Amino acid sequence: MDKKIIVANWKNHPDTLAEAEGILEFTNEYLGSLGEKKEFSLVFCPPFVFVEDVARYLKMSHLEHEAFLGAQDIAPEDKSALTGEVSGPMLAKLGVRYVIIGHSERRWKIGESDSVVNQKLKSVLRNEFIPIVCIGEKTREDNFKKFLEAQVQNTFSGLTADEIERCIIAYEPVWAISTNSGAHPDTPQSALESINMIKEVLIDKFQIPSSKSQTNSKPQLSNFKPIFLYGGSVNSKNVADFMKEKDISGVLVGGASVDKNEFVKILEITAKI
Ligand code: PGA
Repeated sequence: MDKKIIVANWKNHPDTLAEAEGILEFTNEYLGSLGEKKEFSLVFCPPFVFVEDVARYLKMSHLEHEAFLGAQDIAPEDKSALTGEVSGPMLAKLGVRYVIIGHSERRWKIGESDSVVNQKLKSVLRNEFIPIVCIGEKTREDNFKKFLEAQVQNTFSGLTADEIERCIIAYEPVWAISTNSGAHPDTPQSALESINMIKEVLIDKFQIPSSKSQTNSKPQLSNFKPIFLYGGSVNSKNVADFMKEKDISGVLVGGASVDKNEFVKILEITAKI
C-alpha cells in the first residue's frame, strides 16, 4: 500500500511561534517512537509568517524524511508587482514543496474566482511544486453535481493531462469544514461518490489518463492517476474511516492539526491502519 498523506492546513493559526514549535516538537517525538515503520507522509502548511521557521524545524531528526513543507497560497504571477502576494520563486527559496490552491475559505470568504484559482494552479505547476487542489460544493443541493462539474472544468482549464496527473486533489465539501456553522464530516461513502464524479469529469473533459493509454477505450477509474484526499472536520474519531478507503489517499486536516494532542492521535490511528 502507498503511504497515506496527512496535510496539516494550519490556516491563520497558531497565534505564536512557540505554539507552532510545540506542534512540530510533539510530532517529532511521536515519529521517533515509531521507529522505521511509518505508513504516512506529512505536509505542514503554516501561515506565511511561520514558513521559514517551520522549514528550519522540519530538519529535526524524525521529521526530516517524513514531513514536507507546504504553503497555503501562491501569487498567480512570478515577477510582476502584486501587493500582498508571495511568489513561487520566493516560496521555492524557503524549501516549499506543496501548495494548497483553491481552498474554500479563499474562494468563498476572500472571493477568489475559479479563474484566479486556475492562474494560481498554473503558477504552482510552473514553479514545480506539487499542487493540492481543493474542490468542493458549498451546499449539498440537488444540483451540486453540476456545480462540482463546473468548478472542476474551470479550475483545471487549459491544463494538459500530464499536468493534471501531477496534482493532488482534495475533495473538501464546504459545508463539512469545521469552522462553518452546522459542519459535520461527510461519510466516506458519499465522499467517494463525489470523488468518482470529479474523476469522471476529468476523464471526459481532459482525456485523463486516456491520452497515455495504448487503446482508445475509456480509462478505468481505478487506473486514475491524480490522487485524492478528503478534508472537512477530520479528527481522531473519524480519520480511520477515511484512511481505510483505498481510493482516498489521505486527509487534509484543518482545526485538528493545530491541536498537538489531537494531531498526534490522528497520526497514531493512521499508523495502525
Ligand atoms: P477542518 O478544515 O479540518 O477544520 O474542517 C479543513 C480545511 O479547511 O482544510
